[in-house]
Amino acid sequence: MKGKKQNLDKVLQGLERSELSTIPSVLVRLLSVSRDPKAHAGDLATICEMDKSTSARLLRAANSVYFATENRDRVDSLKDAIVRIGFGVAEEIILSSTVSSLLKSSSTIADYSANALWRHSIAVAIASRLLYNSRFSSGNLDAFIMGLLHDLGIAIEHQFLFEDGFQPALLQRFEKQSLLSDEEEACMGVTHQEVGRAVAMKWNFPKHLVDAIGHHHDMDIQDDRNLAAIHVIRLAEYLCFIQHQGYSDFSEAYASILLESREVLSINDESLQAISDQMAREMANLESLGWFSELRLKMR
Ligand SMILES: [Fe+2]
Ligand SMILES: [Fe+2]
Repeated sequence: MKGKKQNLDKVLQGLERSELSTIPSVLVRLLSVSRDPKAHAGDLATICEMDKSTSARLLRAANSVYFATENRDRVDSLKDAIVRIGFGVAEEIILSSTVSSLLKSSSTIADYSANALWRHSIAVAIASRLLYNSRFSSGNLDAFIMGLLHDLGIAIEHQFLFEDGFQPALLQRFEKQSLLSDEEEACMGVTHQEVGRAVAMKWNFPKHLVDAIGHHHDMDIQDDRNLAAIHVIRLAEYLCFIQHQGYSDFSEAYASILLESREVLSINDESLQAISDQMAREMANLESLGWFSELRLKMR
């Protein structure tokens, strides 16, 4: 078995030769537009106009029943689509669509597939945004981004370490109903938290994002602000687990540990239920827009 250093080196070298470097550049441009009070729809449109699948997703959302009423005309330009659906939704669609380029393989191993991981990542992102906004300030993209990318390491392992222990780790987690990180450690000497953290650092992600990716299972972290964000992700993971929203890298016993984050965040039963219902509605809307079948089609 190769060790931690060899596997991390393999990932970082593989990244140099891959096309995934568009992800950090889109993220940086998007964050700067989202923090600029003078930014307009044209600025957002410029970020994604070269990407056909992102543009198609924006237009389809703008012309869907969710945003377009009977009296409204069809929109055909990206700028008009962004104006109709609003900046916040457009930013989330652009981010999610960009991140989907990480998930290309069609293999299914036990309960895992790239499509299931994609659904999980989107659901955790939505739930993280809802939980964060209910507890802290709203209108911030960070919670959505952290949720979307928390399992970045799993997608990277799938692409670069599939033959180096990722496949048996997935099988063992399924058979033992254990935590994927423990099986990754046993099969590859490295976990998806460590892989995700190394990639996030290489891509110059902001520190709070590196921490969320690198510590979402162990919470081995001192910074209070980041700790709150990680509790948000953990509770979001719990909601996705009970709703069966895609792949979960843990099982029943660990899910009950995740629920402890509810006390830390002081979120009562009623609020948690309302957030869970809203997440289910948003996921159903994305399903109706073809988001989860689209990835399958792209992989064929
Ligand atoms: Fe996860
Ligand atoms: Fe994870």
